Amino acid sequence: MKDIIVAIDGNAATGKSTQSKKIALFLNYKYIDSGAMYRAVTLYAIRNKISPKNLSQINLMLSNIKINFNFSNGENKTFLNGEDVEELIRSKVISKKVSSYAKVKKIREFLVLKQREFGLNKGIVMDGRDIGTVVFPKAECKFFFKSDINISANRRYKEIVESGIKTSYEDVLRDVSKRDFSDMRRVHSPLKKAKDSLEIDVSNKSVDEIFQYLIRIIEIKRKELN
Ligand code: CDP
Repeated sequence: MKDIIVAIDGNAATGKSTQSKKIALFLNYKYIDSGAMYRAVTLYAIRNKISPKNLSQINLMLSNIKINFNFSNGENKTFLNGEDVEELIRSKVISKKVSSYAKVKKIREFLVLKQREFGLNKGIVMDGRDIGTVVFPKAECKFFFKSDINISANRRYKEIVESGIKTSYEDVLRDVSKRDFSDMRRVHSPLKKAKDSLEIDVSNKSVDEIFQYLIRIIEIKRKELN
């Protein structure tokens, strides 16, 4: 069967990466977490005290950044210049700052090029905000996840607490809402549903229910193409 590109976009904390990993594992595809790439760039910028407004420093920074992934047994790890930063990039500080770096055109152009390279041979699941609109406008399968904001915040709150980090529900709700607001309103590649993307309200559905639904649609699409 021909390999395809599966693009999953949507609001913050709607379970895009959970589903993307399950699909990639099931189809034996690559998984690319594009949000992790924006988070890794943000980590590098913060460590080196580079403001999102300083374009000459941003340009120099990008020439020094290499991001790789290791996806195995359904688990994904993000590497920034060879360092495993998977945990660091999920911190509160990065979550608060990432959207202001994700607005910068130069950063987006740099990461979109890398994302397209990852998808050259298809057989890939990528999740993010602009995958179906900008990165792979011709992706064979496009999904757009939305959810009640309180359910998303609660989901992310549980994830953070389970990973051993202290936080409050109110703090997480504030972060998720602010990021959605900023991601939807930015000038370059704002978060929006591609015309040919299938919108799924994930609010009151279980992980398995959503997964079975996505796989059914993906399999229909793959059969059509063969
Ligand atoms: O996991 P969550 O949905 O909370 O966010 P993420 O996928 O890790 O993305 C973190 C941030 O990166 C988003 O809030 C966006 O500001 C940015 N992002 C983006 O602009 N474009 C993408 N394709 C992916 C992420």
